[in-house]
Amino acid sequence: MSAKIAPSMLSSDFANLAAEAQRMLDCGADWLHMDIMDGHFVPNLTIGAPVIQSLRRHTSAYLDCHLMVTNPLDYVEPLAKAGASGFTFHIEASRDNWDRVSKKVKESGMRVGVCLKPGTPVEEVFPLVDSGDVDLVLIMTVEPGFGGQKFIPETMSKVKALRSRYPSLDIEVDGGLGPSTIQQAADAGANCIVAGSSVFGAPDPAAVISLMRNSVQT
Ligand code: DX5
Ligand code: ZN
Repeated sequence: MSAKIAPSMLSSDFANLAAEAQRMLDCGADWLHMDIMDGHFVPNLTIGAPVIQSLRRHTSAYLDCHLMVTNPLDYVEPLAKAGASGFTFHIEASRDNWDRVSKKVKESGMRVGVCLKPGTPVEEVFPLVDSGDVDLVLIMTVEPGFGGQKFIPETMSKVKALRSRYPSLDIEVDGGLGPSTIQQAADAGANCIVAGSSVFGAPDPAAVISLMRNSVQT
């Protein structure tokens, strides 16, 4: 279980996406976090499979797709064809069909992630992880929808509960992560760190990425 630092491309200049992606990889990013929002599950609208497909032509990087959409099942095939690497869907959008979604994602060759909003109890995800079909659990550390929000420390109890139950699971955190909050996430047991504004807003993004990686590994 290694540390993965995943800059959120939501904070990038979308008009220069390929160059921004390369800039982050040159700064030491392990993954590129791609926030896909449908304007319905969350009150914001971003990108979909066509943009992932365009970006894929410019990079072989791991594209960590976070689906903030009401119907995740509809996105599995288009995103697999577009070249997504990981497909992380919200449990709140798939309470009736999470087993179908996770199986379809796996069959499509992408890594399976499941995500919880700050108010969703961690126990909801245990049956999915126990099913053996889940590679990653994403604990939202802000309400999904926008970058630049304040980290919610109360979410760390969920990371701790997951880490004690699943020692080798990939546990990702997303929202408000940066030099001032990374230690809390690392101590709780998160090993995949999404960071948007703290990386893109820094004068030296490479230093922020390396600081976060060191926090996770020590
Ligand atoms: C929020 C997104 C995040 C966001 C994080 O809904 O899922 O990935 O871009 O941005 P920061 O790091 O600025 O909180
Ligand atoms: Zn995200």
